[in-house]
Amino acid sequence: MVTESTGRGDPAETRRGQPAHTDDWVTRDAAVVWHGFTQMAAYGDNAPIIVDHAEGRELVDVDGRRYLDAISSLWVTTLGHGVAELDAALRRQLDRVAHSTMLGHGNRVVVELAEALAAVVPVDGAHFLFASDGASAVEQALKIAFQYWTNRGLEGRDRYLALGNAYHGDTVGGLSLGDGGFGTDVFDPLRFPVVRTPGYDDPGWADKAIATVERHAGELAAAVIEPLVQGAAGMLVTEPGELARFAAACRDAGVLLVADEVATGFGRTGRLFACEWSAIRPDLLCLGKGLTGGYLPMSVTAAASHVYDAFLGEDLGPRTFYHGHSYAGNALAAAVALEHLRLVTRPAVLANVTARAAQLSVALGDVVTPHPAVAAVRQRGLMAGIELAPPEPGLRWGRRVCAAAVARGVLLRPLGDVVVVMPPLTTTEDEIARIVSTLDEALTEVAAGPRP
Ligand SMILES: Cc1ncc(COP(=O)(O)O)c(C=O)c1O
Repeated sequence: MVTESTGRGDPAETRRGQPAHTDDWVTRDAAVVWHGFTQMAAYGDNAPIIVDHAEGRELVDVDGRRYLDAISSLWVTTLGHGVAELDAALRRQLDRVAHSTMLGHGNRVVVELAEALAAVVPVDGAHFLFASDGASAVEQALKIAFQYWTNRGLEGRDRYLALGNAYHGDTVGGLSLGDGGFGTDVFDPLRFPVVRTPGYDDPGWADKAIATVERHAGELAAAVIEPLVQGAAGMLVTEPGELARFAAACRDAGVLLVADEVATGFGRTGRLFACEWSAIRPDLLCLGKGLTGGYLPMSVTAAASHVYDAFLGEDLGPRTFYHGHSYAGNALAAAVALEHLRLVTRPAVLANVTARAAQLSVALGDVVTPHPAVAAVRQRGLMAGIELAPPEPGLRWGRRVCAAAVARGVLLRPLGDVVVVMPPLTTTEDEIARIVSTLDEALTEVAAGPRP
């Protein structure tokens, strides 16, 4: 059940000092805000929540209703909202400087962050090019991979291998690597062609991808993968050994491997990085989302030393990487990311992920998998996808199950007819139990309810 806030208690105020309620805020919101991946003509009809503040792992709306954030605010929140140490790190940095450009100059907290990241990322001799969103980190990796070959004097390395069902963000490069769906087909004319091989839903994906890498090696700038879990595809999972075989094939064929850990990075799979399960060391690694624990937009592309070295040359010469974003290496974000790295690498955090993931697996297996409304359950660590089995297409079960869960105070968001469960790494035993029982009720309600 949705419970009233025991926190601030005071409802949000309008600009005129009157108590404002969700409906008023939704009206004001729809009048001026354009929400991503949202049909705005229907926005208000889909019972959006308007967040006022957060406490721990719960969001509190403008009417004081509380929602357990079971999707980590679209997979970014790691330790919870309002983490005292992260708040303090942000405040400390505010007293120094909020932002200074990384183009040609440095900032001490960014240096400290890069040093700390270098010690933990699965990349040899990493140098870090910062950006703001996951898609930008991927875009940077694509351009670095392309210019790497140019700088080495090799021509014709201008294609990318990407997997079926892939998702790498919404910029044109990311979209091109992506396998469509998500309503983005309208952009097909903008997508550049990639060499596509099946994704993790094909048990033979690794063999097919290896054969493709060997066949196309001479024209590939890089192969791009989401290690272990294809998240946005609906949590499609593979075995670590398959990934290791594919990475070895890329190395043997001389094709750069880009690991997109925007979703899987920072503990979600039970290790700090998903690459660790397969003991792979990609040439380029993309991180985002959890980098700042969900506080501030920051992403980064880590390049192995042999990649980075190919860009060294005369000042202002053609080997230079002519690319950079205005807010890259934002000092506030860097300060939070540095403190977050210290917190997230405490053994207790990953131990909790392991324990809660095991609990989630058992609970989903007991309660959700046998549900007649469910076709399949997939999980790695605290990344889970529940694929629904609607009796016919077009019933929007994913949307309706999540709406039923939100009405019960658990925030879920579907990917089509796959319900994603991705609670923060610090989630508790009670919260996992609450998520699963709420899901059970929501599934029962939608399966029994009238068709829209
Ligand atoms: C694997 C992967 N790469 C890239 C992105 C894009 O990240 P952003 O939304 O921060 O641009 C996402 C987002 O879900 C992702 O899951």
